[in-house]
Amino acid sequence: MDIQIDQTLMNSYEKMREYKQANTYPYFPTIDKYHNQNAILNNGSEYLMFGTCDYLGFNNNQLIKNSSMEAIKNFGTNTYGAQISCGYTKYHNQLETKLANLLNKESAILFPSGMSANMALLSTFFSKEDLIINDQFNHASSFLGSKLSFAKVEAFPHGSLNKLEDILKANQNARNKAIVVDGLFSADGDFSDLTSISDLARRYNALFIVDEAHSFGACGPNGCGASEMYGVLKDVDIITGTMSKAIGSVGGYLAGDSRIIEILRHNSSLYTGSRGSPPAVVAASLKGLELLSLDAGIEARRKLWDNVNFLTNLLRVEEIADSNSYIIPVMIGDDEIALRMSNWLHRRGVLVPAMIYPLVPKNRALIRLGVTAWHTKDECVKLASLLCEAKKLFKF
Ligand SMILES: Cc1ncc(COP(=O)(O)O)c(C=O)c1O
Repeated sequence: MDIQIDQTLMNSYEKMREYKQANTYPYFPTIDKYHNQNAILNNGSEYLMFGTCDYLGFNNNQLIKNSSMEAIKNFGTNTYGAQISCGYTKYHNQLETKLANLLNKESAILFPSGMSANMALLSTFFSKEDLIINDQFNHASSFLGSKLSFAKVEAFPHGSLNKLEDILKANQNARNKAIVVDGLFSADGDFSDLTSISDLARRYNALFIVDEAHSFGACGPNGCGASEMYGVLKDVDIITGTMSKAIGSVGGYLAGDSRIIEILRHNSSLYTGSRGSPPAVVAASLKGLELLSLDAGIEARRKLWDNVNFLTNLLRVEEIADSNSYIIPVMIGDDEIALRMSNWLHRRGVLVPAMIYPLVPKNRALIRLGVTAWHTKDECVKLASLLCEAKKLFKF
């Protein structure tokens, strides 16, 4: 039987076909290997990488690579089962303890991805009598988890604390109320106002959940994330995050009250019914976490923020873009223009993704720059001067 495909999906399918035929399809550039931090694509050319989330440069850190290889020597490439049965190694145990200690929470639990961690948390603890409130620009995992929970779900316009308060006021009788926000927004590069949101959570007796995916490792004096940077880490009930950005590894986590973590271990099928990360991956995360508080981590954060200041200054004076973080969005608006511009940059040896609908809301297409600790000043200047040219050409 033929599958009946929803019209929106068909439209997206047709659109992608059009891009492919016009040679403007932006996704899945096939990377043969990395050379230093640059990407060598399967056409043999080398590209300066400004599309990355490897904020601290840990992806290519020798100590992290050694830890990973050592774990493969000891355990092979996988475990024997789900974590709950026979897939929980000493590395998993050490990483959970290290995370809980670093974030100053009672307990922590590992998931294969940040996506599954968020979905597990929201779908396990909230149901019909409850309310989950998301910032409208939260990551898809928070919305998917909210949907799976059957709770009442509300979203407030991005960053609008008045609207958030209105929702809290109108729903005082909900059994549980949860406010979920990204600490640092993955496309726009701005931070949630965690101080004010924490205050609202306390006043309205709501659970405060912060997704630190992009802020973990790179923000705050110890790399604990945006909550640490805002001085509200202790007020956040549950921290969620991932090793897939600044830590040079992959894998999600939740940290919070030990009762919540313990219940998840036995009741979330996203945990019990899914294989955890393999030892080599967990060992990489463990080493990455260790480095955060050592010279390597401190120096990487210093270089990262120095590059953020350097590049944003260059872009600000030219009115190209601005940001308070290492995620710098060049706002374009129109999907086609963003795609053409990303291709134009590609042809000039720079790899930066265009984020178009449905990755971002309609008419909010952008070029997402990811600055890291390892970019040189010359590379930043090269990017900025190309963007200056692009601004005139594409009139954004
Ligand atoms: C805010 C946010 N949360 C969660 C995730 C999911 O992380 P992971 O890649 O570990 O699934 C992402 C991924 O980009 C993200 O941006």
